[in-house]
Amino acid sequence: MKLTMVGGGGFRTPLVYAALLRDREPGRVTSVALVDTDAGRLATMARILADQAAGVADAPTVTTHTDAAEGLRGADFVFSAIRVGGLPGRATDERIGQSHGVIGQETVGFGGISYALRTLPVVLELAHTIARVAPQAWVINFTNPAGVVTEAMSTVLGERVIGICDSPIGLARRALSALDIDESVTSPAVELEYAGLNHLGWLTGLRVHGRDVLPDLLSQPDRIESFEEGKLFGAEWIQTLGALPNEYLHYYSFRRDVLQADQYAPLTRGRYLVDQQQSFWTDAATAAHPLRTWEQCRHEREVTYMATNRDSAGMGERDDADLVSGGYENVAIALMRGIAHDQQARLILNVRNNGALPDVDADAVVEIPCTVDAKGAHPVVGAAVPDFGRGLVTTIKYVERQTLEAALGGSRSAALRALASHPLIDSVRVARALLDDARSSFADDLSYLR
Ligand code: G6P
Ligand code: MN
Repeated sequence: MKLTMVGGGGFRTPLVYAALLRDREPGRVTSVALVDTDAGRLATMARILADQAAGVADAPTVTTHTDAAEGLRGADFVFSAIRVGGLPGRATDERIGQSHGVIGQETVGFGGISYALRTLPVVLELAHTIARVAPQAWVINFTNPAGVVTEAMSTVLGERVIGICDSPIGLARRALSALDIDESVTSPAVELEYAGLNHLGWLTGLRVHGRDVLPDLLSQPDRIESFEEGKLFGAEWIQTLGALPNEYLHYYSFRRDVLQADQYAPLTRGRYLVDQQQSFWTDAATAAHPLRTWEQCRHEREVTYMATNRDSAGMGERDDADLVSGGYENVAIALMRGIAHDQQARLILNVRNNGALPDVDADAVVEIPCTVDAKGAHPVVGAAVPDFGRGLVTTIKYVERQTLEAALGGSRSAALRALASHPLIDSVRVARALLDDARSSFADDLSYLR
């Protein structure tokens, strides 16, 4: 089986490759093609993966390609994880946001819209290339903002593109361990009820051997505040909601507090990563053991994740227990195996709604539990957004669809409607200024907007 990783020169590729190396089942991936625009990173990444494969029998072969069509030809599965504008683009979105007093985070508010505006034309072209050279392939999208990116690709690839994120499963894993339940979050004994959009959803049920244990957790404030999301939102608010919010909802629920912390933060996330990754790629290129360089860097990256939000909540350092990996790479492999081997897995995925959430159009992409088999991912009947979240889901889906309309038709008006309708952008004047700044900062990527 051939897997092509578009954006394969990205920092998280070794997580996926490690998961492939652990997979000993028949029918596993035997060849990996890395596609990237950066030949230097591809060369370094190939060395890191070779380090990982040392001593592993039948490790998947690795090839590298700067030509997407060449790497994609004959792929059974495609993982897409690209970053248009790179980390400097992410930092620029944050800076523009800061300068107008709004959040510029890569997937939320202005930052998410700006990032989508430069990404959507590129992923649409990628989808057309896949349809041409690998029409049989299943595409698993990691590219952020994952919901709207998956929806854009689905206009070309239909249900053969599925989006993934590690935050819902991470939330459920932390909830289980807060209850001292020893069951793995991916075990068939565990069933998650979760619904919303990517980075905008709620865990509303957590069944273990058929019994919902979420009420047990919700009744114990000390256990709620023993893990990341519980600390971020506070036990009292989580008990008030009666559900566990995705960590990215912190930008909405505590917007003023995050903005204030953001204003005084010495570094934004994007700025920090620009510096960190620059030295990583330089060091790794010449390191005798580039895998070690990668491991150190990865640890630092995880420890500092969402630092501004945690600062605003007065949380201090991130707990080691909250760092446990097995995030998106395991979701991706489980999804791939479920399709390739007709395995009936149950996963939280970004797929076309098809009536699962009554407030959202049928062809809009939502994040909900699905069963996975050889025919793809099928929404589980009964997923429901809690009442207090329905308005937000509908509004953000409108924002995403206007962003998509802007990308498909080159419409500046649609882009402005997206920005001005976003609840984290509080004035049409500000929306217009943000759009003007984005267009001048990303002149090439956004020149299509008229
Ligand atoms: C989580 C999210 C991903 C996002 C990542 C950012 O894993 O689910 O969608 O890409 O965080 O992490 P970073 O280290 O780049 O800030
Ligand atoms: Mn995500």
